Amino acid sequence: MGISFDNLKPPRWGGPVPGPVERDPCVLGPDVVLDPPVVLSPMAAVTNPPYRMICREMGAGLVVTEMIHARKLVEGDERTWQMLDIRPSEHPVSVQLFGNEPSVLAEAAAIVAEEGADVVDLNMGCPMRKVVSNGCGAGLLEDTKLIYEIFRAMSDAVDVPVTGKIRAGWEESNAVDVGRAMQDGGAAAVTIHGRTRSDMYDGHVDLAIIAELKKAVDMVVIGNGDVHDWQSARRMFHTTGCDAVMVARGALGNPWVFRELAADLAGEEVPARPDLAEKRRTLARHVDLYIDTFGEERTTFEIRKHLLWYFRGTPGEKTLRRKLKDLHSRADIMRAVDAACEACREVGAKAS
Ligand SMILES: Cc1cc2nc3c(=O)[nH]c(=O)nc-3n(C[C@H](O)[C@H](O)[C@H](O)COP(=O)(O)O)c2cc1C
Repeated sequence: MGISFDNLKPPRWGGPVPGPVERDPCVLGPDVVLDPPVVLSPMAAVTNPPYRMICREMGAGLVVTEMIHARKLVEGDERTWQMLDIRPSEHPVSVQLFGNEPSVLAEAAAIVAEEGADVVDLNMGCPMRKVVSNGCGAGLLEDTKLIYEIFRAMSDAVDVPVTGKIRAGWEESNAVDVGRAMQDGGAAAVTIHGRTRSDMYDGHVDLAIIAELKKAVDMVVIGNGDVHDWQSARRMFHTTGCDAVMVARGALGNPWVFRELAADLAGEEVPARPDLAEKRRTLARHVDLYIDTFGEERTTFEIRKHLLWYFRGTPGEKTLRRKLKDLHSRADIMRAVDAACEACREVGAKAS
């Protein structure tokens, strides 16, 4: 059970656009303010340092790492430690842990705080079978006693805010019970993806569940699910009363979503979508940061999905797909990008 990596589009929503939203920066703790209150989601194999830096530059108020295995971190696993790579320009940054043992999660929280995390987050939403069958991710949602114990242990172990990211429930929503258990355990915020584990990514996000949770708790509530532009962000804020929004699929190949949301929340005119020149510039920067972080060889493989997302739905996508198997260097990557840009120009299409 999982989601296809190729076609990760949030469903479109065609309702009337709500009026402007006024939201102050969102305070998670004395040293952590989300300004604007817009967050880049944790995404496994996506939100590594290069993409987090790009999204911060575009205006995200907080970025979250990929999920990091708490036990492996505590045991000193080298690959897991490599994921704990935080760059100065990322702050504020939240490190997401997954696991289900209070003492191990407390120890892992202390490690990530020591390594520079501004926030420690716990994954309670991952629906993948291999994660939930071990009682982690969304597998935690039905055990509110354990949730309380985990948050108590993590909050006692660190001075930075501790947060959790949940789904609405397993099959039925129990988000209010989960949120209260987190709050009693000392959580500073809850992010809620308004789908149950059984929903996976089907249908539309249920905003009523997010609104219900917001009314029931005193901590910060971050609304997540199907936010991909300023219109859907306004709708999330209006309908749920949430304090901040989080964007995942809408940010794939589209870091500009953050500057759009930031401008709209500041009452400014929403900037135009990037033209081809800007898209190429941002992509080149993404590639350079990637090479800087992971080296050229690894970049030539891992950057492929990003390239496709940047050109998704444009005349350049087909051209790019044909070139993906021939990427062996930075020069190859940029040649493929240029060919995709050229294909877009030929049909006179806008880049986005
Ligand atoms: C490729 C991918 C990887 C994801 N990895 C994580 C993860 O590591 N931790 C997590 O809490 N959620 C993860 N999610 C879920 C997202 O953070 C988010 O909750 C979900 O996609 C709904 O938001 P959206 O409608 O903006 O996409 C992932 C989603 C995608 C598409």
